[in-house]
Amino acid sequence: MAQLILTADPGFAHLALEEFRRDSIGGQPLAELASGVWLADCDEGFWGLAETWIDSPPIFVRHICPVDVAFPLIATPRDLARLSRDAVAEYAELLDSEVSFSVQSRIFVDLPYKPFDINRAIAAALAETTSAPLDVRQPFQILSLLCTEVEQRLPSLAKTESGFQALLGLSLASHNISDWAGGVRRFRREKDQISRAEFKLLEAIEAFHIELPSGGVALDLGAAPGGWTRVLRQKGQYVTAVDPAMLHPRLSADRGVRHKRMSAEAYLREGPDTYDLLVNDMRMDAVPSARLTNAFADFLYPHAEALLTLKMGQSARQLDPACALLRERYDILHMRQLFHNRNEVTVHLKAN
Ligand SMILES: C[S@@+](CC[C@H](N)C(=O)[O-])C[C@H]1O[C@@H](n2cnc3c(N)ncnc32)[C@H](O)[C@@H]1O
Repeated sequence: MAQLILTADPGFAHLALEEFRRDSIGGQPLAELASGVWLADCDEGFWGLAETWIDSPPIFVRHICPVDVAFPLIATPRDLARLSRDAVAEYAELLDSEVSFSVQSRIFVDLPYKPFDINRAIAAALAETTSAPLDVRQPFQILSLLCTEVEQRLPSLAKTESGFQALLGLSLASHNISDWAGGVRRFRREKDQISRAEFKLLEAIEAFHIELPSGGVALDLGAAPGGWTRVLRQKGQYVTAVDPAMLHPRLSADRGVRHKRMSAEAYLREGPDTYDLLVNDMRMDAVPSARLTNAFADFLYPHAEALLTLKMGQSARQLDPACALLRERYDILHMRQLFHNRNEVTVHLKAN
């Protein structure tokens, strides 16, 4: 077997599959294993496609991993020992002992154990036979495993009594688009959290490797109720938060936050200061939002970066014109639909 698993937000899977067909050679989705999760095939195989996407990443495909082998499941807890034994036989020699690894499982059928149980069992078995260190947060190599129902359309898979199979594949984290199983990056809810939108900013900072200057000055357009402002403050930034709506009362006591209670357009007319970072999460269509982001480019230091969410309908029709506009003033460093994005994508820019 030399297939791959491709994952996207279910609402945008059609766009992810379009990217797959466009960027692969003979790319073919074979079966939808769960909502937004596809078993697929392409002539260059997982590694060829992964290399293509390292150079020119897709926007809507959130995660890929290879399928090298399938093991039958009997759907009892005994699977854990059997999977561990088979995984060791298949992968112990293939793992690079010099660099870290992790096991990432997803289960799409009814089984009497959880992904965590599989991860723990296989990782422990591998750790006994290889000296590669286990690192679940920043693994260098990842053994991906997906428990699914055998599809009749896949004659390459042997039939099992339970009808369930585990599909396994080993790859480098850098080839999977995301370091997290299926691209699902969850953050712990914090006591002081102001909005769920905070997760979007945290995920973007991590995924795009954004380094914030210490004591930098940031402009937050569309800041209310203040989740992004709170995250930026936690990261040592002084924030000008622009929004006609109220900020969370906790932020009013913070002397590192200046609330401009007005629209971004009004702040532009007032004459903004100069910033190290611009973030924009305004509830606004992609094209006018891009236009406003461009207008603020005059008020950024040469080293400044910008991060914005571009809102879209299901068709993503506004994305191309919005990006064409942004390129007039910025280089687009990254653009992805991250796990915490809903009907939007996140764009990382550098002033040009
Ligand atoms: C999704 S919320 C932002 C959430 C925020 N990032 C957070 O973490 O709490 C969108 C915000 O955009 C603001 N907004 C919409 N149009 C705007 C404009 N022209 N200028 C400034 N803010 C605007 C809205 O008032 C709303 O508070």
